[in-house]
Amino acid sequence: MSFSQEISRRRTFAIISHPDAGKTTLTEKLLLYGGALQLAGAVRAKKNQRNTTSDWMDIEKERGISISSTVLQFEYNGFCVNLLDTPGHRDFSEDTYRVLTAVDSVVMVIDAGKGIEERTRKLFEICRLRGIPIFTFMNKMDRPSIHPLELLDDLENSLGISVFPVTWPLGDGPDFKGVFDRIENKLHLYSNQGKGSARAAEQVTGADDPRIGKLLHPDYHKEWLEQIELLSMAGEQFSPEKLQCGDLTPVFFGSAINNFGVQLLLDFFVKHGMPPVSRNSNQGPIAPEDERFSGFIFKIQANMDPNHRDSLSFLRVCSGVFEKDMSVPNPRGGNKPLRLSYPQRLFGQDRETVEKAYPGDIVGLVSHGNFRIGDTLTQIPGLQFNEIPRFPPEVFATLHNAAPSKFKQFRDGLEQMVNEGVIQMFHMHNTQQRTVLLGAVGQLQFEVVKHRLETEYAAEVRLEPSPFTQIRWLPQGTDPDAFKGAYMGSNIRMAIDLDNNPVLLFPDQWSVDYFAEKNPDYKLLKYSPLQQGEAL
Ligand code: G4P
Repeated sequence: MSFSQEISRRRTFAIISHPDAGKTTLTEKLLLYGGALQLAGAVRAKKNQRNTTSDWMDIEKERGISISSTVLQFEYNGFCVNLLDTPGHRDFSEDTYRVLTAVDSVVMVIDAGKGIEERTRKLFEICRLRGIPIFTFMNKMDRPSIHPLELLDDLENSLGISVFPVTWPLGDGPDFKGVFDRIENKLHLYSNQGKGSARAAEQVTGADDPRIGKLLHPDYHKEWLEQIELLSMAGEQFSPEKLQCGDLTPVFFGSAINNFGVQLLLDFFVKHGMPPVSRNSNQGPIAPEDERFSGFIFKIQANMDPNHRDSLSFLRVCSGVFEKDMSVPNPRGGNKPLRLSYPQRLFGQDRETVEKAYPGDIVGLVSHGNFRIGDTLTQIPGLQFNEIPRFPPEVFATLHNAAPSKFKQFRDGLEQMVNEGVIQMFHMHNTQQRTVLLGAVGQLQFEVVKHRLETEYAAEVRLEPSPFTQIRWLPQGTDPDAFKGAYMGSNIRMAIDLDNNPVLLFPDQWSVDYFAEKNPDYKLLKYSPLQQGEAL
């Protein structure tokens, strides 16, 4: 197969959802279509373990599973599909957001009985900022659901994205009878397959099939026919261009657990999902077809065994062909090139050595602290991707070194974890002590830092919760003291991030809004000025 064929058959995506909407179930079913039956079992096992997890110690034991399920690769109808896991439950962290920088499209799963929930909204916002194409799956139609028109309304009005329902449901809950494919003009009748893992047998029929009248109450049948007509007359038309820039989402209805509607989603996804596209860099867009290899590190997973400091760094290939044992300039500088040995492809519990990988693929590199999140590995001189923004932390905690004699351990361990992207660090402005303030996207990250500092670095630390939940950056180059004239509520604090940029910390959104109202001349940014660039 030619290089360009290998690129165009790749589909690299992630599933985003609120916990319990059905991400794990949908993943399992997609893997079934890809013939990866064993993997499907591993995905469920992982989810079950996560749910019973009580603290970080247990999570650490499970890291093996979490590493191996980071990327699931399967073949489907000639396409090579890479499905990236978005850590989602207790282990929701910045990693979840970072995964979205390494994919080319996203499937958003919504529980049709609940509508859009908070976690989905957050993840959606990141996808929107990055202009990633989004496919929507309205799940659990076998249960009583919100009216489909209301669900679409919610997507349009509260998320601000145009919708195109590719399928349209026939009833819901006990009256769920199937979905109508509006593009193919075919009705797929629902037959409850039980919770088995076999592929659902779908009976296909036309919208005018007389059997439909028998399945539905006459009033509902009439209403349903009207809805279909209304959608085709007044609804949005399907536009691949709008999908590709993230302005329109195709919507599917179904029931993942019953494996219904999943294949329609998958078929449409491989057809319209994005193959790898150009990535922005300091040298302009880099096309996947560029024969010189390039990629970036989007996730680093520390070793399960604290006695070994090696870790697995995940590389997204952006252009050219990755080959085992190839050498690239060391992204951390120095004259010695870096040999990319031990590349791994993770497949369920097994790891296999990667000989070659193409744009869109993810490769796990065993490393010994050589990489940082966001590092570019490439044969193109001076190239730097700008793909990994730091995401604004949503929780904060103060970290104290409880044993002054172990300051070195404390400092080294913290530096390593900041480099790995486990945590963000700030120093309070204008205070006597250099208080270390940690910022994270999920609470668990604090536990991780404490546990690893104590076990891997033999430091002694104390964590104190901090009341802040909102962070805003000041425009680059702002002198922090210029803010002296600004109204600062008693609960607003100024701190300095690791790039030496001043930030303001607020206890809640209300105080951010109040600050903006009182200080119309002071501009605040939601993302770090260094990170705003191309990526967000
Ligand atoms: P998540 O990864 O997004 O957190 O969700 P997951 O797939 O684990 O699904 C959450 C719960 O919803 C599971 O039930 C799952 O079986 C159920 N579910 C998923 N899809 C459907 C669907 O289409 N219809 C119905 N009725 N239920 C669905 P659970 O009781 O938590 O787990 P389990 O005992 O079934 O494994």
